[in-house]
Amino acid sequence: MSEKVHVSSHPLVQHKVTLLSEKSTDTRMFRELVRELTGLLVYEAMADVPVNELIYTTPLEETTGHELQPRVGLVPIIRAGIGMVDAAADMIPSSEVWHLGMYRDEVTHTPVSYYNKLPKECPDDLVVVLDPMLATGGSARDAISVLKDWGARWIKFIGIIAAPEGVEELQRAHPDVDIYVARLDRELDGNRYIRPGLGDAGDRMYGTHPSE
Ligand code: PRP
Ligand code: URA
Repeated sequence: MSEKVHVSSHPLVQHKVTLLSEKSTDTRMFRELVRELTGLLVYEAMADVPVNELIYTTPLEETTGHELQPRVGLVPIIRAGIGMVDAAADMIPSSEVWHLGMYRDEVTHTPVSYYNKLPKECPDDLVVVLDPMLATGGSARDAISVLKDWGARWIKFIGIIAAPEGVEELQRAHPDVDIYVARLDRELDGNRYIRPGLGDAGDRMYGTHPSE
């Protein structure tokens, strides 16, 4: 697998993604686990980000420390990506949050863009896309194309569960983007759902049913 694809091998991530995808996990616990997993995945995804050295003062003396160098923008893909944004913003409090809305057409399974309020120019050095599911890869692919047109130069994608087909499509379209996920699953089914997967992430996060 490409060195741009990072599937977490951390025991805590493996434990929590198992609980997340378990059928009996209720909405409240699902949200909590998405938050916890996001914090852990952001930690892993930020491992290669440069820092600036700075001089600062502890209660006892002046010393040198570090601060994140890039300005970071977080882009949750509405709806399910919203469940990841608080945890990511807690880890990177200086980050800005921009929203993109996409849903998959139920018949064609292709992404439909319905919300984009990005400002005129991209103010960030690093843009982190948040969406728990990478299935066909169409939503992430199109969202990242929008972000590149906007001027984003350095983009990372953080998801929770990916299908091999989605990883392949995202890498084909955007080979420069690092992909961080908690788990790489077996395949997509005929409805383009990830198997074994966790079902519909948005529905499980918000307690809705597919017909709503
Ligand atoms: C889910 C998920 C991704 C997309 C992934 O959203 O949150 O955005 O599907 O599928 P893809 O890789 O095949 O494009 P969904 O379309 O269900 O919308 P929702 O978050 O509003 O429920
Ligand atoms: N979107 C989801 O929420 N789950 C899938 O398995 C595929 C797309």
